[in-house]
Amino acid sequence: MTSNTPQPVTFKPSGPLSGKISVPGDKSISHRALILSTLAIGKSRITGLLEGEDVLATADALRAMGARIEKKDDVWTVHGVGVGGLIQPENALDMGNSGTSARLLMGLVASHGITTTFTGDASLSKRPMGRIIEPLSRMGADIQARETSDHKACMPLTVRGICPAIPLEYRLPVASAQVKSAILLAGLNTPGITRIIEPVLTRDHSETMLRGFGADIQVETDADDCRIISLTGEAELKPQKIKVPGDPSSAAFMVVAALIVPGSDIVIENVGINPTRTGLFDVLRDMGGDIRFAKKRTVGGEPVADIHVRHSALTGIDVPAKIAPSMIDEFPILFIAAAMASGQTITSGLHELRVKESDRLSQMAKGLELLGVKLTEKEDGLTIEGSGGKTLSGGKAKAMIETALDHRIAMSFAIAGLATKSGLAIDDITPTQTSFPGFENLLATLAS
Ligand code: S3P
Repeated sequence: MTSNTPQPVTFKPSGPLSGKISVPGDKSISHRALILSTLAIGKSRITGLLEGEDVLATADALRAMGARIEKKDDVWTVHGVGVGGLIQPENALDMGNSGTSARLLMGLVASHGITTTFTGDASLSKRPMGRIIEPLSRMGADIQARETSDHKACMPLTVRGICPAIPLEYRLPVASAQVKSAILLAGLNTPGITRIIEPVLTRDHSETMLRGFGADIQVETDADDCRIISLTGEAELKPQKIKVPGDPSSAAFMVVAALIVPGSDIVIENVGINPTRTGLFDVLRDMGGDIRFAKKRTVGGEPVADIHVRHSALTGIDVPAKIAPSMIDEFPILFIAAAMASGQTITSGLHELRVKESDRLSQMAKGLELLGVKLTEKEDGLTIEGSGGKTLSGGKAKAMIETALDHRIAMSFAIAGLATKSGLAIDDITPTQTSFPGFENLLATLAS
């Protein structure tokens, strides 16, 4: 996993970016495709799967619990064991840097009669797991986690699953697709109806894919605009052929690169544009970004398009807090766009950013300050004074940007480097392997 030796890299100022590219498969959809294929009876085929470390951690864990998962040419084949058919893994499951693997698989194990320990890297071991432990414990699972000095439940942790588990009705206290998905996965092998009340809409790939695999899942909206998701347990899932679209969260880096480098004009083909994921593109358009979706189509129940982006003069805006869940992973790269805009960009409602792969508000603030950007860090957001399109200083005294085992911090500052006077060094590029293998090469093809 990301235990690789750190590799510092300098990103140099760039001439106009041009060309047509595609980005690797969607990380969220890839995890879910492997998991639900494992729970179907028979052989599913997946193309476009993200072959990043996070998804490979999920694949390895599923293999350890009985799935046969193989790759030939571009096709991944999963021989599913059926809902309830997972077996006890022999060793602890190493989740590397991946919160999605850890949380979704904890849900899966919770309603099977197996016991397993989950471990992760230094970043994942700091992330809060109480939000998953609480609902899964209510379903009957026994979860023992390490307690931090400030009394947070963190990894490593051991889940002793229970079968049959108790169906749960649960109102999500945090807007989290991972918590929602963990409960739904636990609900698949639980008799009766598992019901989730979701006051704030988060990415809905699990619901869409569960329906595609033949689960009985109903989604309604109540009078208070909450989504109510009801899943009938002891489901029988049918194997599927899945085409994973390009990841909008990866495309985001290339979109901002094209917006901030003068003269750029690029197309990113085959990107998922599920509205629960595209908040960044809406915000950038409001800032004056020329971003168009072409050839809109639906692939495997998910909306997809080619994204055409041209360099644009950006203007800072006040980003409404309610858009955050639809761009929760995109704030680091939005902050880079904001640093190049004219005027002020204000963000708020971003407490969740402090518990991602790193504390993203603090890491971004530190890095941007090194670049000479004026900003204010609040508890729940950053306010950034943009340079009005002027190149950034390139790093105080050749300081290196600290990536803190966070792929999105690394890639955000890599893109910022294109808009510096003399280049920008980041201390470690290896975390990009978790979600965007080939990031540097792809960026280089746009610049050549
Ligand atoms: C994800 C949900 C989000 C997101 C993460 C992937 C998922 O996390 O940040 O990168 O695939 O469900 P939260 O559920 O913690 O918001």
